[in-house]
Order: sequence, then C-alpha cells, then structure tokens
Amino acid sequence: MIDFNLDSEHKELQEMYRKFAEERVKPLAHEMDEQEKMNLEMLKEMQECGFFGIPFPEAYGGAGGDVLSYVLCMEEISKADASTGVTLSVHTSLCASTIQEFGTEEQKQKWLRPLADGSKIGCFGLTEPNAGSDVAGARTTAVKDGDEYVINGEKIFTTNSGFADTFLVFALTDKSVPAHKGMSAFLVDRNTPGITVTPDIPRMGIRAASNAAVVYEDVRVPAENLLGGVEGKGFKIAMKALDGGRIGIAAQAVGIAQGALNEAIKYDKERMQFGKTIASFQNTQFKMADLQTKIDAARLMTWRAAVAKDRGEAYNVYAAMAKLMASDVANQVTRDCVQFLGGYGFAREYAVERMMRDAKITEIYEGTSEVMKMVIAGSLNLK
Ligand code: CAA
Repeated sequence: MIDFNLDSEHKELQEMYRKFAEERVKPLAHEMDEQEKMNLEMLKEMQECGFFGIPFPEAYGGAGGDVLSYVLCMEEISKADASTGVTLSVHTSLCASTIQEFGTEEQKQKWLRPLADGSKIGCFGLTEPNAGSDVAGARTTAVKDGDEYVINGEKIFTTNSGFADTFLVFALTDKSVPAHKGMSAFLVDRNTPGITVTPDIPRMGIRAASNAAVVYEDVRVPAENLLGGVEGKGFKIAMKALDGGRIGIAAQAVGIAQGALNEAIKYDKERMQFGKTIASFQNTQFKMADLQTKIDAARLMTWRAAVAKDRGEAYNVYAAMAKLMASDVANQVTRDCVQFLGGYGFAREYAVERMMRDAKITEIYEGTSEVMKMVIAGSLNLK
C-alpha cells in the first residue's frame, strides 16, 4: 500500500528539526554567508542534538533513525541555510554512511562511531582538479609499503575539509588497470602528517560551507585503514556513496525552494503596490501555485528515493531523478522568488538573494544534472 503521508513519528521529528532550524540556524544564515564562515558552535549544538547521526544504528552511537528522517532534517535545515545543509549531507551520506555500508566491524567501531555520536565530522575526497564528472580519471595513488599505504595526490572541492576530522579518500592502488577496478577507499585522520588543506575556495553560493583543495604528500596510513579491507572496490564504493548522497542533495534543493517560497509569501502578503498586496494579484497566486506544485513533486520524488533505500530496494535511479528534478525546481523557484520581492529581492539583506545563489550548486555537486541524465538513461535499455 502506498502512503504519501508521514507517520506520527516522522511528523514529530520533522517538527523538531523545523524548530531547531528556525530558532538556531536561520538567524545565523545571513551573517555566515556574508562572512563566508560556518558557525562551528551552532554545528556543535547540532552534533550534540544527534543531527549528525540520524540514520545510524544506536550500536554505533547513532540516533537509530532512517534515511527518511535524515531527508526531513536535510530539508528543514536547508530551508534555513543551505550551507549548513551541505555540511550535514556530506558528513552523513558521503562519509559516515559509506563507512557503515562498506567498513569492517573494527572500522565501524573506530571510525563510524565518533561520526555518528557527534564527536567528529567527516568529509569525502573524490574529485580532483582533472577528474570531476569523470571519476575514473582520478590520479591520486596509494602505494603499499609494508603494513602501510602511502597516499600522494590532490583533491579539490572537498566539502567540510576546513574542519572535518575524518577524510574518506579515494586513490589508485593499481594503475595498471582502469580506475573502475584499480581504485580503493581509505580512512584518513586529518592530523596525519603530509596533509595540507588550502584556504576555502571563494564561491558564488553555499559560501558558509567549507570547501577547499586537499593535498596529500607522502601521507602514510596503516593498511587497516583500507575501507572494507579489500583493494580495487573504490570506484563502486564511490558510486554507491554518491547514489545515497544525491538523495540528501535533492532534499537540500527542496528545502532551498520551500524556504524561498515561504519568504516570498510572507513578503507579498505585506507589500502593497497599486493599492493592494502583491499576494492579491492573480499573477502572483497562479505563479506561486505552480511553484508549490513543483516543490511538492520534487519532495515526493525525494521521499520515494529515501524510502526505497530504507527498504533495501534499488534506489540509484530514483535518487538521480529526485536530484535532477529538485535541483531544477530549486533554481526556478528561487529565481522567481527574487522577482516576487522586486528590488528588495536583489538586495543582500533579503534571504531570497542568498537562496538563489545557493540553489545553483545543487545542479552541479554530487553529480551534475547531465550525469543524473546519464544514470537515468542507463536504466532505459537504450543500447
Ligand atoms: N553502483 C554500483 N556500481 C556502479 C554504479 C552504481 N551506482 N555506477 C556504475 N557502477 C559500476 C558499473 O556497473 C561498472 O561495473 P563493471 O566494471 O563491473 O561493469 C563500473 O562501475 C563502471 O561503470 P561506468 O562504465 O558506468 O563508469 P563511468 O566511468 O562511465 O562513470 C558516471 C559513470 C555515472 C559518469 C560516474 O563517473 C559518475 O557518477 N560521475 C559523477 C561523479 C560525481 O557525482 N561527483 C561528485 C563529487 S563528490 C561531491 O560533489 C561532494 C561534495 O563535496 C558535495
């Protein structure tokens, strides 16, 4: 039986995430964007409230929730601030969930537990200066030397790198075969000698998130840090990580869109022009009706992908469709919301300006919209 409504447990969680986002995240969003800096105290509070461990079992220090709960949290947090949203997303979907899915029991106890219980933050080092959409073009290497691996290379656009403790890094352990078979994943502590994190890359949006290049120069890690203990699985691990990550980014995009529309509704109900509120013009009403319909469609697609993952069903195509749809909707909605506020929409002090800039990246990171179409087309038996 299909049920499109949340049960009472998920509704309660949604309410709790919304309250935190409204009270603790939203008031900081403008200042964090202007300063291009995450408020780490607020992040700590989120960690202490269990937000960084939502879909992980209590046995590993997590909140014992599910992917749907995490998606609800991502939407509420991103409604208030997309930078905080992506910080949570990269930690949860790309780093911690990947350790949960592919780590050995010892690795889960050592590396997942502190990520899930809120004492550490994770990041994901896959993209390189010359290997973005083409993951198989990566050049970072990990050479076995006794009971250690020596990692050399450069990663770029590593979200959370400014303050993350745990780096999940992808490197070639066998250059003689294509990266699909020769790449492996490693768990690396930020304090390992040889790691240099550059200053954050100045960006158009999600400016409060940390995003930098990370250089690995003769970084020695124990062989036991090889994720899953088997070489050559890295490409597929990265693909699976990104399948899950895309659900989080879809939820982020839904949040940005809903947040912007809520701001526009509030403003247009008060703003008087030509003797009446802007909200009373049918042009405003019809346009807002269209936008809310699109947001709801994107939200349902995101929930479908999350529930499929929770049920252990195939979800990669659902995730790609949800991200493709939600990121497109977020860009349309935020652009229209700037228009709804007129000149004020263009002013920095109104949130929709930030939201329009933040929306753009949802069409790019964790797989561009073009890559989403490759994944979806791949499911259509076109060859
Ligand atoms: N799950 C499991 N296996 C998968 C898979 C998946 N989702 N996708 C592909 N594979 C397997 C294939 O079955 C194939 O296996 P065999 O060799 O055994 O046949 C193998 O992987 C190679 O597959 P492809 O030939 O399809 O691989 P490709 O090189 O053509 O790449 C791609 C496919 C979809 C374009 C992939 O490279 C991709 O997803 N690129 C986008 C990368 C991306 O999203 N980057 C985001 C960076 S992280 C980020 O943004 C984080 C941040 O900070 C916010």
